[in-house]
Amino acid sequence: MTASDLLHARRVAPSILSADFARLGAQVQTVMEAGARVIHVDVMDGHFVPPITIGPLVVSALADQVHDAGGMLDVHLMIERPERHVAEFARAGADLITVHAEATPHLHYALQAVKQAGCAAGAAINPGTPVEALADVGELLDLALCMSVNPGWGGQPFIGSSLAKLARLRELLPADVAIEVDGGVDATTAGPCAEQGARLLVAGSAIFGAADPAAAYAQIATAAGAA
Ligand code: DX5
Ligand code: ZN
Repeated sequence: MTASDLLHARRVAPSILSADFARLGAQVQTVMEAGARVIHVDVMDGHFVPPITIGPLVVSALADQVHDAGGMLDVHLMIERPERHVAEFARAGADLITVHAEATPHLHYALQAVKQAGCAAGAAINPGTPVEALADVGELLDLALCMSVNPGWGGQPFIGSSLAKLARLRELLPADVAIEVDGGVDATTAGPCAEQGARLLVAGSAIFGAADPAAAYAQIATAAGAA
């Protein structure tokens, strides 16, 4: 299955941010065996957001495992001037690269760079950024990511006004652009997000913070009506 096939069905994307990094491969295997095909990777630079997390080395370490199981790597760049790094993440094995509208004065150029690197292109907006920030890049987008928490940390509560924002994004962008929601997604919030047009639902702590991540994945996928 290609990245673009995977973006056309409703899916839950486990975020490895909340995984146990000492046994990352096993954690990814657990959720893929439970049915996950989109693995969400949160890259943070200590500038755009305060924490520093992981980079291309970890993308590269997971690439064969995820691709061999028919999955894709959804790389969420929470870094300043992402256009300077997209080629490196593409080489590491990213299938979808999402850049933040707030992280560069050159959003259009950054998305072009993602496409040129051979990846599907996503643009993200923070909770305080209006959906109109993406109005003029719709034709370059494979995906629009609506942050439903302020980026930087897992385990924060879902910001309720994100539901109306998802609907506004769906209205604004061409129908073939997948809408992704990220932050505070669990078995309670997943259904309403799906109803408002979210196709990819990122869940970190609700999956990897659970005693049984496979069961938690299944529960969220069922709540979202996901594949
Ligand atoms: C936050 C990250 C999220 C994070 C979500 O900045 O972009 O992907 O892992 O974590 P939860 O699902 O715990 O809110
Ligand atoms: Zn994320």
